[in-house]
This record gives sequence, C-alpha cells and structure tokens, in this order.
Amino acid sequence: MIVIGVLVSGNGSNLQAIIDNIKSGNLNAKIGCVISDNQNALALKKAKESGVPAYYICPGSGKTYLDTERELEYLECLRKHKVKLVCLAGFMRILHSEFLQAFKDRIINIHPALLPSFQGLHAQRQAFDYGVKIAGATVHFVDEGVDAGPIIIQRAVTVKDNDTEEELSKRILKVEHQIYSEAIQLFAEKKLKKIGRKIEIINPD
Ligand code: GRF
Repeated sequence: MIVIGVLVSGNGSNLQAIIDNIKSGNLNAKIGCVISDNQNALALKKAKESGVPAYYICPGSGKTYLDTERELEYLECLRKHKVKLVCLAGFMRILHSEFLQAFKDRIINIHPALLPSFQGLHAQRQAFDYGVKIAGATVHFVDEGVDAGPIIIQRAVTVKDNDTEEELSKRILKVEHQIYSEAIQLFAEKKLKKIGRKIEIINPD
C-alpha cells in the first residue's frame, strides 16, 4: 500500500476526500503525514480528527516559497513517515528544485481548471470571468513551473447559463475530490507512464 504525504494550507476538503476514499476502500493508500504551512488551517484539524499525523511546520519568512532550511524540515518529516508520493492539496507555496529533486516525479497537485488554461491563483474566477463554457479540474505532476507539469487526469465541468462563480467552484471542487483519489490510485498501481511530457495510463480499467 502506498504511503502518501499531503501538504495543505487551507480548508482541506481535498484532504478529507482522500481520507474518506481510503476509509471506504476506494483508494488503497495510507496517509503517512499531513503538513501545513498555516497553523490555523482547517485541514490540520481534519487530519487530527481522522487520526492522521499532522504537523504545522513554519514556512519561514518568505511568502511564495518555503525558506530553504524549512524546506529541509518538510523533507525530513516526509521521509520520517516513509512517504513515497507527495500530494499538494491546496498548498499555497512553490517548491524549490531541491525539493522537487528529492521526490523526483513523485509530487502531484490538484488545480481547479483545465490546464494549461488559467494557471495560478483564483483559477475558477479566471475561467468564469473569461466566459468559458467548459471549466474543470486537473491533477498533474509538479515540475519547476507553476501548474505546468505533465497532466495525469482532467475532468470537465459544464458552465451553466446563469451560473455564479461560487456555484461553478462548488461543482469543480466535487470533481476535484473524485479525480485526486483516482490519480493517487493510478500512481500507486504504477499505471502512469511518462513519455516526454505526456502521461500514458497503462491498462486503464
Ligand atoms: C482546491 O480548489 C485546489 O484545487 C486548489 O486549492 C483548493 C484547495 O481546497 N489548489 P481544499 O483546501 O482542498 O478545500
């Protein structure tokens, strides 16, 4: 069974979905640890309530990145818990290349848009304001770019007439909760093959 580490900053609804999917047997994984850069993250509370080891590790003084020394603490914690796959779930920091190298091809992220459209913050709002008819969510590997790594799963969400950004975001979040666990399961089953920047799913069910 694969051991995953989940990095969070906020509400933790994706974390909760992973926890629930593990409990219900839909995802064959174990959460080794949850780490947050935000002491007050609801996600930390959710992890603790589910009996998952959860830590706040101070990110340092920077706003966008973890300070280099702090990043080593994150890595140490992940290694201590024997994490094999790092899942960013609403983690609001960019990782240095040293971190990426330490978990090369073993860091994934969930983004609330159909990448490569609407990278960065407030992706749902960007899509809504742009007037797209089809929005969605993406699970992808993390590389040096922001929301730029190879795509594992994408799922579309139709924008309705008279939709609001809030309603659309809710429906996107629902889809996020499904595809994140699906992507973790595929990784765990070694069904993801990287060809250039493309991810082929081997023997999909
Ligand atoms: C999600 O929309 C995710 O795609 C984005 O940040 C949000 C985190 O939500 N990266 P939650 O903390 O999992 O509820």
